[in-house]
Amino acid sequence: MKTLIKTIVLLSFAVSSLTFSNGVSANSGEHFEKAKIDMNNYGSLQNGAKLFVNYCLGCHSLKYQRYERLATDLHIPPEIVTKNLMFTANKIGETMSINMPAEDAAKFFGTTPPDLSLITRAKGVDYIYAYLRGFYQDDTRPFGVNNTAFDMVAMPHVLESLQGLQRKSDEAVFQESIIHESHSKINAIFARLDKEGADTAKLKREKAEAEEASHKAVEAIANLKHEGKYFQLVHKGEMSPEEFDNAMLDLVNFLSYVSEPVKAKRIAMGVWVILFLILLFIVTYLLKKEYWKDVH
Ligand code: HEC
Repeated sequence: MKTLIKTIVLLSFAVSSLTFSNGVSANSGEHFEKAKIDMNNYGSLQNGAKLFVNYCLGCHSLKYQRYERLATDLHIPPEIVTKNLMFTANKIGETMSINMPAEDAAKFFGTTPPDLSLITRAKGVDYIYAYLRGFYQDDTRPFGVNNTAFDMVAMPHVLESLQGLQRKSDEAVFQESIIHESHSKINAIFARLDKEGADTAKLKREKAEAEEASHKAVEAIANLKHEGKYFQLVHKGEMSPEEFDNAMLDLVNFLSYVSEPVKAKRIAMGVWVILFLILLFIVTYLLKKEYWKDVH
């Protein structure tokens, strides 16, 4: 009976990991805020589709996604898809391609905007969520913006009308300059440590101090982000910060659906498969007991 209980406990763990293992970030190192998306929320998916068609499809295709499939999976009436979402296609059976030739795009942006069909699988939903909210004013860049998740990005801030324009707060810039300085110091110390006759004890002490300063600044930045003080608005957009975050969750949700249209079904089915196996196990166990009853 003990083994039976153990197995059931193990199997239920399997069920829960199936249910909760949503986007694992492929982007190592950096820790992004979790994008709490719900693939069974059709309102969110529909809003994401609308945002994508209006703000992204000008540059990014979804070459594996057909409009027809979109209508079916997202519960949008086909007439609405044809009328309101199909700007780049004539027939509902076509894929979500773009009209801009790749060479033109490369000329405009210095690089071709990638097809986004598989982007959430390649980079993780948390990264995309951070990327879409991470544009900030940087006058040294060609489009006047940079991105916290993707330094030196070539994409313009296409959602400026919704989000507004944000810039790093003075405190954030100050703390980042401390990190930068500390790293230069540490590198310089390493170079001096290699030289003959170096005062090793003193250099090590200096290195520890620089590391401590950098560590503190990293913590201060994490705090600023946590308190929503890392950025400040240069000018407002049509949406409040909360509305914009929710809109971006919808957009990420939609892109996640596009990356794997059967995901919601797969997870739901996985639960039933595991439950079926548990039931089957109980029945076989009882059967085994029945068979062996008379052997001893
Ligand atoms: C005006 C053209 C344009 C529009 C509109 C546009 N993008 Fe981009 N996007 C680009 C370019 C160019 C790149 C390549 C950036 C690079 O490699 O530096 C890019 C890259 C990306 C990437 C890849 C980032 C990475 O880490 O590789 C994502 C994700 C993305 N865009 C999402 C979107 C979404 C979502 C929208 C709609 C809200 C959108 N883009 C609208 C031009 C555009």
